[in-house]
Amino acid sequence: METVVSGIRPTGNLHLGNYFGAIKNFLKMQEEQNCYFFIADYHSLTTHPTPADLHRNVKQVLAEYLACGLDPDKSTIYIQSDLPETAELYLFLNMNAYKGELERCTSFKDKIRNQPENVNAGLLTYPTLMAADIIIHNAHKVPVGKDQEQHLEMTRTFAKRFNRLYNVDYFNEPVAFNFGENLVKVPGLDGSGKMGKSDGNAIYLCDDEKTIRKKVMKAVSDSGPTEMNQPKPDAIQNLFSMMQIVSAPDTLLHFNELYNKCEIRYGDFKKQLAEDIVLFTSPFKEKIDALLADDAYLGKVAKMGAEKARESGRKTVNEVREIIGFKSFY
Ligand code: TYM
Repeated sequence: METVVSGIRPTGNLHLGNYFGAIKNFLKMQEEQNCYFFIADYHSLTTHPTPADLHRNVKQVLAEYLACGLDPDKSTIYIQSDLPETAELYLFLNMNAYKGELERCTSFKDKIRNQPENVNAGLLTYPTLMAADIIIHNAHKVPVGKDQEQHLEMTRTFAKRFNRLYNVDYFNEPVAFNFGENLVKVPGLDGSGKMGKSDGNAIYLCDDEKTIRKKVMKAVSDSGPTEMNQPKPDAIQNLFSMMQIVSAPDTLLHFNELYNKCEIRYGDFKKQLAEDIVLFTSPFKEKIDALLADDAYLGKVAKMGAEKARESGRKTVNEVREIIGFKSFY
């Protein structure tokens, strides 16, 4: 059986990008593999949340994981800070991670552009913390969206470097994984790149019907095609990509044909898209609300996950300490 590790930062509610890029694969993998799915609360400290926000967001993601169908009896569901051995492994990896390679990381460059007032060391070393998360359970596979590909590459670099440095064959070389052919990138509603928590372009699993319809109807489009079979501009392609994810194949085909014949009416197209998104998300909302009201159950799940994660994490860190040469004098 292979070991699978993945996590999500608790910086807001989960959106369709998180679901289709990551969680959809978690659900399948938990049936077959030895899975660790965590909430990356250490990572979220790079943006300096208040204590109240931090706790609320962790709770929200835990409830959302469970509402999506992650099963604490099938996989280990835990909160990153409940496994402090992660921080120790992060420290070890940082000793052999170099400023140049960390600065070249695309997500670092994006982050310093977006928050120039807060370029902290946690942002720079984000990839080593992520590598620690993954190799602390010696993962083989990491289900993630396309935006995490480079982080996985860096994880392999750090794992290989450790093996080489200490002349051991200890860590696996984990790979980014998706059940489809390619890693997924769900587009945002604002005509640009990907759906993201901070970008105000997302549809959240807990959005209500009215909000979803409003967001979709307001999504960026244009005045419509003027030539038969003309290529789609990015904003329109994004909406079609979204439809491909949530709607039936026939629906997609239908609107594609209308587009190619210059007969598409974006109002109808968006109405249908909103309808299909509502159909997809509505079962989640009720479950999320019920779970958020059940502190006792959330506590039980978090405790069980922490215990299972610690068992695996402690073993790794103890072995790593030994490999590095830490020996007890007492
Ligand atoms: P985060 O919290 O930004 O996103 C969580 C997961 O959702 C995926 N995702 C998307 N996939 C497709 N299209 C989108 N628009 C989209 N937006 C988000 C992400 O690829 C990710 O899989 N660094 C990670 C969290 C993390 C982690 C880890 C992941 C920390 N340690 C160890 C895996 C293994 C992050 O910030 O993801």
